[in-house]
Amino acid sequence: MNNKVFIFDTTLRDGEQVPGCQLNTQEKVEVARQLEALGVDIIEAGFPVSSPGDFESVVAISKAVKNPTICALTRAVEKDIEVAAEALRFAKRGRIHTGIGASDYHIRYKFNSTREEVLERGVAAVKFAKKFVEDVEFYCEDAGRADNEFLARMVEAVIAAGATVVNIPDTTGYCLPEQYGRKIRFLMDKVPNIDQAIISCHCHNDLGLATANTIAGVLNGARQVEVTINGIGERAGNTSLEEVAMILKTHKNLDLTTDIDTQRIYPISLLVSKMMRMPVQPNKAIVGRNAFAHSSGIHQDGVLKNRENYEIIDPEEVGVPASSIILTARSGKAALRHHLERLGYHLDKDQLVQAYEKFLQIADSKKEVTDEDLVVMMDGTIVNHQISLERLQVTCGVSTSPTATVELKIDGLVYKASEMGNGPVNAAFRAVDRILNERIDLEEYLVQSNINRSYDTAKVHVRINHNNRSFTGFGVDTDIITASVQAYLNAINKIGVLKGYQAVAAMG
Ligand code: KIV
Ligand code: ZN
Repeated sequence: MNNKVFIFDTTLRDGEQVPGCQLNTQEKVEVARQLEALGVDIIEAGFPVSSPGDFESVVAISKAVKNPTICALTRAVEKDIEVAAEALRFAKRGRIHTGIGASDYHIRYKFNSTREEVLERGVAAVKFAKKFVEDVEFYCEDAGRADNEFLARMVEAVIAAGATVVNIPDTTGYCLPEQYGRKIRFLMDKVPNIDQAIISCHCHNDLGLATANTIAGVLNGARQVEVTINGIGERAGNTSLEEVAMILKTHKNLDLTTDIDTQRIYPISLLVSKMMRMPVQPNKAIVGRNAFAHSSGIHQDGVLKNRENYEIIDPEEVGVPASSIILTARSGKAALRHHLERLGYHLDKDQLVQAYEKFLQIADSKKEVTDEDLVVMMDGTIVNHQISLERLQVTCGVSTSPTATVELKIDGLVYKASEMGNGPVNAAFRAVDRILNERIDLEEYLVQSNINRSYDTAKVHVRINHNNRSFTGFGVDTDIITASVQAYLNAINKIGVLKGYQAVAAMG
């Protein structure tokens, strides 16, 4: 049996049906382009007869996207099928997705009909659709609750009528994985012409089982999965694309493949969430904010020793920049050391113990300890200031070359230098570099001028790089240049103390 699983994305049809998630044509085209780049095989672009907007979107997506098949949904109604065919006229490969209810609930209470009658209507719809396109998919709506013997008859009849794909939706999200898997297996074993079509899984998430059911379907012979980005969709949603793609990729022994470029998963998740104004729950598998965040001390220590201790997927594989180690009161010393080193503080064992005690005090009073908290904590405890600003004089303004004269006190001695620069801050930093005779790269420079509603105080953050290590510094003063030099020296002092660096070369 073929081991490729076709990815049928219905974000723009079943997903977009959700109240508040509607997109305009331009936005749908943007999502469709990203789905194409992601590598989906089929894009269900809309339900053209439902509204002029849906019709237009199917036309626009058919024109904009070339690789995936473009699919349009219909009921088993001739008018729907004609309109869908018209909307698909620009598609390089177009598919009509038609169907009718297969469960006795739908047959009786939705169609007020009989099994025989819906079967005939289904077959007629496939034959009619075949007049317009070669590729016709048939959905047996509410197949999850349908009688398997009748379902098998329906599947056989629509395949005989020309259906290329038969969709077995668990429309109400009712099935258990074992039950849905058995249903697919039953069809694979009992329908004589099953080899002439692909069986598709379309599972809803009412009991949180959509992904499990879809995987059960695939394990029992289905080779197409109908999914949405972030699992959005009616009620509790549809099967999520990212979960299925990563399950198949992670469990290599299943020997099932997709064409999904998994590194594009996270970016498209963000795009869909933003465009549809549908936040992703933080603990959502693969794409949730916490999917790669570790907060307990034991886990953080384990991940820092070896990522695979607590992660089965490398975040980069799904386009997430990196795992995050969240600092809370439950974090251990390994996590604290990791963050301090990232910020440029390299501590020995005793210093770390000292810093950890202080950290726990802060963590007890806050939910999460930020980088800024750590910087303040470190500047108040571990770092000794060896270099201090004695005097600063700047000349700047219109038609004047910015010049700064700086006097620094280093271990009790005063050193002085003057430099010109692009502006007064640059001139002052160059004068400091000259005194220290060091190459220091300024990586980041940030000024805030409104502290506690006072507009006359400047708060400056800098990040510098020295010998490929980064150090942050902070300064505050009513004078913006003075605050900048203090921040710069604050960062430089961390190099000196932590690396045994000695300020040198006094330049008079
Ligand atoms: O859930 C469902 O049954 C559907 C069909 C229209 C395919 O979305
Ligand atoms: Zn559905």
